[in-house]
Amino acid sequence: MSESKRLAGEKAIEFVEDGSVVGVGTGSTVAYFIDALARIRDRIEGAVSSSEQSTQRLKAHGIPVLDLNAAGPLPLYVDGADECDPHKRLIKGGGAALTREKIIAEASERFVCIIDPAKQVPVLGRFPLPIEVIPMARSLVARQVLAQTGGQPVWREGVTTDNGNWVLDVHGLEIVDPVATERALNQIPGVVSVGLFARRPADVVIVGTEPPTVL
Ligand code: A5P
Repeated sequence: MSESKRLAGEKAIEFVEDGSVVGVGTGSTVAYFIDALARIRDRIEGAVSSSEQSTQRLKAHGIPVLDLNAAGPLPLYVDGADECDPHKRLIKGGGAALTREKIIAEASERFVCIIDPAKQVPVLGRFPLPIEVIPMARSLVARQVLAQTGGQPVWREGVTTDNGNWVLDVHGLEIVDPVATERALNQIPGVVSVGLFARRPADVVIVGTEPPTVL
């Protein structure tokens, strides 16, 4: 499994432009990308990071970490996913970094998603859908998610996001219209962000086969 993640992470280096600031996601596949990025760090200006975890790894490699407000639009964002459908729509947030990931994906011209083959699914929803919520709205959001989708929201107890919020994982979904579901769940007061990346899907998906498959 980690060999597939390494293959996908290292392949994504081919999308990095010289002199650019690179958007960097979060997770075990991205860790391989960061390690490969370190080998070409003299060719890039720096990185914008989606989590404290990735920031630490980037800094440990001597890669400058820049603020998104200062960096402006980015040419490239590289991140993993928990599920990916044939239209490059994703479920993300297994690592609780979904909100910052969504912000950087939106700020980037090209989103390259790096996954191992097990992440490919025909329909999103087998992986519980993460939703970041303002803590005081946890029960309200859970009730409305249940009413709207029929899915079972479970509080990821003990986890606080980098933004100081909580996460609900919604089980038992079969998301046939991910754009509509993303839009509807985003409307619930107290929802910070939904781990569906459908309105802004990936542009390129790299699957860590041997050799890597670029979709
Ligand atoms: C972080 O919140 C997630 O969106 C990650 O992108 C995802 O969980 C990555 O999975 P891997 O650790 O399998 O790369």
